[in-house]
Amino acid sequence: MKTWSARFAEGLNPFIQGFNSSIDFDFFLLQEDLDGSIAHARMLGRTGIITVQEATKLEDGLEAIRLGVLKGTVKPDLEDEDVHMFVERRLIKNLGPLGKKLHTGRSRNDQVGTDLRLWLRRRLDELDTDLKNLQVVLFNKAVENLFTLIPGYTHLQRAQPLSLAHHLLAYVEMIQRDRDRFSEIRKRVNICPLGAAALAGTSLPIDRRFTADQLGFLDVYANSLDAVSDRDFAVEFTAASSLVMVHLSRLADEIILWASEEFAFIRLTDRCATGSSLMPQKKNPDVPELVRGKTGRVFGHLQSLLTMIKGLPLSYNKDFQEDKEPIFDTVKTVIDALKAMTILFEEGLEFSIERLNEAVTCDFSNATDVADYLVAKNIPFREAYQIVGRVVRLCLQNEILLKDLSLAQWKEIHSAFEEDIYERLMPQNVVASRVSEGGTGFDRVQEQLNKWKNELISPN
Ligand code: ARG
Repeated sequence: MKTWSARFAEGLNPFIQGFNSSIDFDFFLLQEDLDGSIAHARMLGRTGIITVQEATKLEDGLEAIRLGVLKGTVKPDLEDEDVHMFVERRLIKNLGPLGKKLHTGRSRNDQVGTDLRLWLRRRLDELDTDLKNLQVVLFNKAVENLFTLIPGYTHLQRAQPLSLAHHLLAYVEMIQRDRDRFSEIRKRVNICPLGAAALAGTSLPIDRRFTADQLGFLDVYANSLDAVSDRDFAVEFTAASSLVMVHLSRLADEIILWASEEFAFIRLTDRCATGSSLMPQKKNPDVPELVRGKTGRVFGHLQSLLTMIKGLPLSYNKDFQEDKEPIFDTVKTVIDALKAMTILFEEGLEFSIERLNEAVTCDFSNATDVADYLVAKNIPFREAYQIVGRVVRLCLQNEILLKDLSLAQWKEIHSAFEEDIYERLMPQNVVASRVSEGGTGFDRVQEQLNKWKNELISPN
């Protein structure tokens, strides 16, 4: 029998019953639903709305459901529209009339909002750990590779050489912003809607602060209508998750490029790469490709939530039932992607030091340094820039690199050039010279490594 059946003469059309139902996916919220109900039952006992003995029996009954589900003896059936009805029906079945007292002063509208926030709060903590774990593996690789050089690109054209550590730490920074965003969002997720009841509050002497406190919420919603209508946190969460995926996708894309024969900056180990069923020579970067590919799901969830909410009058609307799957899938997608990328950096790839070395010594990515060299000898930058342009053209015509020019040729170009130009052209020196704050100079990168070590490895 449906809980609200007294008002209805006829049963639901069976298809509509299924259409209406959310138990298939909101059963996910079982633990949180039980936690919320236990806090609510305690509050009912404490405020004298029911007796303390009754509250204790309700709590025991709720714990028995938790155990039953764990053991597999209690399962939802077709009659259970959602997780909330599932719990209530079992409670009534087990406790008789007392079970019917649990829902006093509460509605599924404030209940579902509470469950979802409790669920997401837990997942935000998990996400923070997973984000940090990825930061740590990137940091470890950075420590190993302070003096490994990698070509730096703009427009995907060779620009200036970099410390590989500097490149990796750029992602550590992005991930830190992701963590900061989630922790901001967590503050707003951590507000309790319970006690708003259906939309207007209740005439019963409930104690909202008590339930909120029991559930570890920081505060309660000040406005009951807002409490049952607010899904901003879901939008914020999927938006911040979209940015996490953007960051992971960019990193994934670089790994895919680096693993290609054209770049060959990394080798994929057998642990995280697969072969082709047709071409025996191939080793495919499936992990970063999947991370890149999964990004669209999360963007999609953000769009679907925004669209779902935008036209809704206050307060609760059944449309909100559609908020869960996007949130659940976003959490799963982001956590999986983070874990996969972490494993990839731990055991799935090796930087090819020889190849990177070769790459930074056979191009013109030291051309800026020749201009800087002249600037240091008091030649205005624009003039120096033109001089170097001519040098590069000369080299290209003769199919040589800057380091292959003889001192006589340098002198011919400009009398300011001396023997020390050769030292200046060496990629290690090029990188070392970028000492401006935030630059790739080894000393600067070492400072950053120290900072991250304090943040990630040995926080005070
Ligand atoms: N399954 C519903 C949801 O996910 C629970 C709330 C239902 N409330 C209601 N008034 N029908 O939103």
